[in-house]
Amino acid sequence: MKDSIRNLIQHAVNQLTSEGILPEEFVANIQVENTRDKTHGDFASNIAMMLAKPAKMKPRDLAELLIKALPADPQISEVAIAGPGFLNFFQNHAALAQRLDQALADNHIGVPLQQPAQRVVVDLSSPNLAKEMHVGHLRSTIIGDAVARVLEFLGNDVIRQNHVGDWGTQFGMLLAYLLENPSAKETQLADLEEFYRAAKQRFDESPEFAEHARGLVVKLQAGDPECLRLWQQFNEVSLSHCQELYDRLGVKLSMADVRGESSYNPELADIVASLREKGLLTEDAGAQCVFLEQFKNAEDKPLPVIVQKADGGYLYSTTDLAAMRYRSQTLQADRALYFVDQRQALHFQMVFAVARRAEFVHPAMQLEHMGFGTMNGPDGRPFKTRDGGTVKLVDLLNEAEQRAYALVKEKNPELAQSELHSIAQAVGIGAVKYADLSKHRSSDYSFNFEQMLSFEGNTAPYLLYAYTRVASVFRRTDFTMNSALPGSIALNSEAEQALAATLQRFAEVLYNIADKGTPHILCTYLYELAGQFSSFYENCPILSADDETTRHSRLRLAALTGRTLKQGLELLGLKTLERM
Ligand code: ARG
Repeated sequence: MKDSIRNLIQHAVNQLTSEGILPEEFVANIQVENTRDKTHGDFASNIAMMLAKPAKMKPRDLAELLIKALPADPQISEVAIAGPGFLNFFQNHAALAQRLDQALADNHIGVPLQQPAQRVVVDLSSPNLAKEMHVGHLRSTIIGDAVARVLEFLGNDVIRQNHVGDWGTQFGMLLAYLLENPSAKETQLADLEEFYRAAKQRFDESPEFAEHARGLVVKLQAGDPECLRLWQQFNEVSLSHCQELYDRLGVKLSMADVRGESSYNPELADIVASLREKGLLTEDAGAQCVFLEQFKNAEDKPLPVIVQKADGGYLYSTTDLAAMRYRSQTLQADRALYFVDQRQALHFQMVFAVARRAEFVHPAMQLEHMGFGTMNGPDGRPFKTRDGGTVKLVDLLNEAEQRAYALVKEKNPELAQSELHSIAQAVGIGAVKYADLSKHRSSDYSFNFEQMLSFEGNTAPYLLYAYTRVASVFRRTDFTMNSALPGSIALNSEAEQALAATLQRFAEVLYNIADKGTPHILCTYLYELAGQFSSFYENCPILSADDETTRHSRLRLAALTGRTLKQGLELLGLKTLERM
């Protein structure tokens, strides 16, 4: 809708330009917003205020000329001038109702596919396998998963890449420990955190052990079969831990999406050689570096991207360069989105710049770091266990489900045990995910069980409950939300109009997320939609409506609301419930 209004305005601007009222060379950035107060129309534009100066006119006078030049559109019933010169557009309710009827008849609920579709690499989760996944990886996993789902829903070809840290010096220490304690494979590996701690302790206390570990890294990197075998065993265990978590979280990631750092090993020498050939390498204290003039430290000294250490070893950056080349040249991606901690922002700026300069990626390929802030504890301080350790994801999810179980049981003591458990699971896991997704990704956020499990406010329990209310309406009819429903939508009351206006914004919200990688706007949207359904439900009786035409119309609005809520929650990676 906003796009069509923008087109109408563009048309009017062009006409005024051809009439000589607006200066020729002026390119206007036409903005159209949803209005808050529907008595002032449904959409507003400040275009007359923006163009008043170049046109040398008063905004309200220009607004009048613009309105005269606007082409007629059946979707718009009226355009009015407000305040200092806003153009307010009133949507034609009959046309809106018709659009919603069309959406209802469409199994993609009226969301058009992206044209042209793109191939998008989504780099997400990407934990280091030497350790257990921790809360920091939760954000990358959940936010990345939601954005990948949205991109896919819009018809893009999404390639998920779990760029796990499965290479590097820590592996020498872990292998040395495994060799020293062959039985640890069965016992301690069940708890990677503990295994890592034990190995680290040996490393720190015994110089011989440390020596052995360093030797093993060299052997491993040289491709020693015994070392490789052990390393592989270790990674399999660690990856299966990750997979358990993905499954439990309902995240669309499988072993097939893993493309770890180690997979780029064979490319790294060539990456360095290629940088050298292009004249981009500088040797600095024995290390191979790329200096780009735009990156300087506080003292205005150029910052290096180090691609090879003096001892010949490669780095995180080198692997990322190889990964970019692979994503562009082999996967032929149009975009690559990196869901990685904000603290790596400079790393990404620098490696993106090097990859472009070295032409490792197609010039048209978009590289975007979708950074996120830190997850803090309820007190706003870094998230730690009571004894100061890192919080393990498994423990967090267990607690979420336990708390949800207690809550649901209190509300519904008569529910069967098995149903209680499945509801608690959906609510508990959903709450953890939703709390994360509903905040802007770039801000830090405080993890707070009480807040995320509340049935009030912008939370998972509130939204899941809102969906069950729609579902319960349909249980009292012969239809489902997906049935072909009789009748058609008519928007007579204010509550119906407000609900309808929100329903039609779904596609716009999804396109925004595809562009910016910000799922929180879908959360805000669904929260608003649920609120609007609530006032519709209170003000407009559905099943007991006065006449059949009204009943059918309201049932249709309810069905579209239910389907939009369900689809939206699914795109966020939340399971909906039919009752709770
Ligand atoms: N393994 C890294 C970490 O835990 C994140 C990797 C992100 N992806 C990438 N292509 N660098 O910090």
